[in-house]
Amino acid sequence: ICKTIQTLRDEIKLKKKTIRASTGKDEPTVGFVPTMGYLHRGHISLVEQARAANDIVVASIFVNPTQFAPHEDLASYPVDIESDVRLLTAANADILFLPSVAEMYGTDASTFVEVTSMAPVLESVARPGHFRGVATVVTKLLNIVSPDVMYIGQKDAMQCVCLRKMVRDLAFNTLVVVGDTVRESNGLAMSSRNSYLTPEEREEAALIYREMTNMKQHYQTTTRQALADLLKDTLESGCSKMKVDYISLANGDTGIELENDSVIPNGAILSLAVFFHGANRKTRLIDVIILN
Ligand code: PAJ
Repeated sequence: ICKTIQTLRDEIKLKKKTIRASTGKDEPTVGFVPTMGYLHRGHISLVEQARAANDIVVASIFVNPTQFAPHEDLASYPVDIESDVRLLTAANADILFLPSVAEMYGTDASTFVEVTSMAPVLESVARPGHFRGVATVVTKLLNIVSPDVMYIGQKDAMQCVCLRKMVRDLAFNTLVVVGDTVRESNGLAMSSRNSYLTPEEREEAALIYREMTNMKQHYQTTTRQALADLLKDTLESGCSKMKVDYISLANGDTGIELENDSVIPNGAILSLAVFFHGANRKTRLIDVIILN
């Protein structure tokens, strides 16, 4: 476990040297999985992919303040480092980077990275400044870890669009691999925020994926607007605790929203955000599927 940038860099250097000496391999590869912790099987599936394809596996846990808006859940974001370390150890990760906010931002950080093409993306409109925070922290993490491959999850579809564009635009020397969404047995996408829901509420929230999947039967014979309206109505009438934040039908590569009257091409991404008004609190859930 490395808590500072310097100890992490030293540790990676040392591991590379050891691997070079023992295997004769010139360039041991580093696979990297950035996270905000409270790890579940979705995160761990990315660690397993990194493990299978690289000599050294680095994961990071950092609840990044710059990607949360003032009214969002930064202060209550769930934390369980002991459990996270157990899961990472079981998945054979080599190094956990666990920096403090002071280590990552000091007291005077004033540089930000912004993928400007994200501006019209609905998730970006719903969370102003969010992707700027994500792009900034991931830039910094990539500069610290210098991985050959970074593993991110399809569940955060627009984050994938943002980070792939950023890596291309800024010529980071890192390959981006996108892992499939891992789900509960009822279909609910695994998320650290699911811990805000009661077990019964998690069953109710499974409606989201069920109805998104149902849309696969309709998308070829309808328009963007009609499909979005149908899904919104189905979710809100199927569960009174749900209020749709947005439903997006977008180009799979660019994240750009389809026109309202447009037909929906194969490969379009259907993504959404739903506010779930549970017994304890309001939770924002997101999910995505590819229509094909
Ligand atoms: P976090 O929400 O902790 O997610 C870390 C990584 O795990 C992301 O790439 C996310 O897409 C992936 N992930 C989450 N749930 C998943 C699931 N059910 N199946 C597969 N992968 C899943 O995303 C972030 O953290 C942050 O924005 C971060 C990139 C670390 C920058 O702060």
